[in-house]
Amino acid sequence: MGELIFLGIESSCDDTAAAVVTADRRILSNVVSSQTALHEAFGGVVPEIAARAHAERLDLVVEQALAEAGLGLRDLAGVAVTAGPGLIGGVMAGVMCAKGIAAGAGLPLVGVNHLAGHALTPRLTDGVEFPYLMLLVSGGHCQFLLVRGPEDFTRLGGTIDDAPGEAFDKLAKLLALPQPGGPSVEAAARDGDAGRIALPRPLLDRPGCDMSFSGLKTAALRQRDALIAAQGGLRERDRADLCAAFQTAVAEVLAEKARRALAAHPVPVLAVAGGVAANAQIRAALQEVAARAGARFLAPPLRLCTDNGAMIAWAGIERFREGARDGMDLVARPRWPL
Ligand code: KG4
Ligand code: ZN
Repeated sequence: MGELIFLGIESSCDDTAAAVVTADRRILSNVVSSQTALHEAFGGVVPEIAARAHAERLDLVVEQALAEAGLGLRDLAGVAVTAGPGLIGGVMAGVMCAKGIAAGAGLPLVGVNHLAGHALTPRLTDGVEFPYLMLLVSGGHCQFLLVRGPEDFTRLGGTIDDAPGEAFDKLAKLLALPQPGGPSVEAAARDGDAGRIALPRPLLDRPGCDMSFSGLKTAALRQRDALIAAQGGLRERDRADLCAAFQTAVAEVLAEKARRALAAHPVPVLAVAGGVAANAQIRAALQEVAARAGARFLAPPLRLCTDNGAMIAWAGIERFREGARDGMDLVARPRWPL
């Protein structure tokens, strides 16, 4: 066998993705077909629509990933696929596609946990050694992981309700700002005064790394309604100040919990992944925490922070090197804690 090259397939939420990655950390292709436009009118991802779109697009996305890499199936050492957690129809479509390719081309199949894909990304992008600390913050997830090996993850804490991205999206909805909420709240916050409107810092008084963001959203709703009642409406400045206060509260909570995680487990690297890692204030707050703890802060490029096939191919390579192989009995799992 020549070089170790994997195809990775991801379809657990609203991105249909495939990528070709080598064991020496080269990303030969990374194709992502977003379904955002399909779900926009519904104000959230519709599982049935997502599953159908994945089933329609997977073959084409895989074909494009191979073409962009300039490779055929015979050049691959294996196929990795997200086997959960996620929206079950989409995960099933991906797993069936991967099984078809593996069986047809006689290639090994490796099922990958989507969260492990995110958590191992710093090893693909920067060759980071174990152990390291990972903060996964997206629209669906929020957790601190101590990563000690390709299959050795310890969850140090996480959200007990909403994920921060979800909270950003809900705040945007409350303020009639465009979706996805993260980028529009961040843009609005730029002109805002974070000190004018008081918002809570949920669970900050409780020890450990657990977090809560739904109370923050409810508090923002009350402040919005109080402003509307007092003034007869919301001004541009109110929106900006609410967004700034909200973003600062999220950044402070994440930073304080990261500080605790690093204090309990003093590892050389704090890494982030997930769409919320795009937020400049949150990044800066985490960077400062890492610097104070003498750790390196690492945020992969955004296209590798959000859902993609490269992280699945890479996690597949890592598992494959540990001897992992899956058969035609690989199941798609809606829930699959690390
Ligand atoms: O990782 P991701 O693309 O998808 C999953 O949730 O799996 O994350 C999307 C989430 C959305 O909730 C979006 O509002 C949030 O990440 N997001 C941001 C920013 N950009 C995206 N949140 C805060 N600030 C941003 N700049
Ligand atoms: Zn994800």
